[in-house]
Amino acid sequence: MKHHVQNNLQYPETEPKLINIRRLQSDLCSENPAFSPNFAKIISMNLLFASKNKHKLSEIRSLFEEAGLTTIDLQSVVDDSRIDDIPEDFETIEENAAAKAEFIYNIYKTNVFADDTGLEIEALNGRPGVYSARYAGENCSFEDNVNKVLEELKGISNRKATFRTLICLIIEGEKHFFEGRVEGEITEKRTGKKGFGYDPVFKPLSSDFTYADMPLSEKNQTSHRAMAVKKMVEFLLH
Ligand code: IMP
Repeated sequence: MKHHVQNNLQYPETEPKLINIRRLQSDLCSENPAFSPNFAKIISMNLLFASKNKHKLSEIRSLFEEAGLTTIDLQSVVDDSRIDDIPEDFETIEENAAAKAEFIYNIYKTNVFADDTGLEIEALNGRPGVYSARYAGENCSFEDNVNKVLEELKGISNRKATFRTLICLIIEGEKHFFEGRVEGEITEKRTGKKGFGYDPVFKPLSSDFTYADMPLSEKNQTSHRAMAVKKMVEFLLH
């Protein structure tokens, strides 16, 4: 098992900040019938996003704001320099999402979620899939990955692809999974300057533009990550 954290660093032993929002909701409602079940929505909780990816974080922050989740204090490990590398070397995106969430949960002992995403291209038998992050090799850039995909699809007319995100949420020590997927196609060449990763070559079927052409608010209408986050938000609120 690879060491993903620098060994000589001490992490603060934080008290678990687990809040059972459903239990609080039902306790408070039974004590005082004036409280509606929506009371849960104004109880605050801490939620940590287990990723160093700033792009993902802004997508998720904006989805939380859109859902009016001002009572959830969404934090992330983006700027935590003590965390060297978050594991994602499993064979499925489900396992990767769970490994990332567990890894961060074991350090911070708080409610946490992680996402793992794969781009599955039909003509490439589902590749890069779980290998999307490191498709062009260890330490490759977004650009290297996109180049590899465009190269492999040269002259191929079937450009169908699916973006799939799995979120693993650990709340009260229990794991919950939420999936989002979007069908689309890989364009012949890059367009757009926004977004990250494969965005410049992924065009969802519902649009004439790639994700890199769209403002974040528009990507968040259809994206794989948005679908998975919306399912998680539903779960947190009900
Ligand atoms: P991971 O979920 O961070 O492991 O992402 C796997 C690979 O897919 C990385 O190369 C990401 O850059 C890329 N990726 C993840 N989400 C998106 C997205 O929303 N748009 C484009 N590329 C993405």
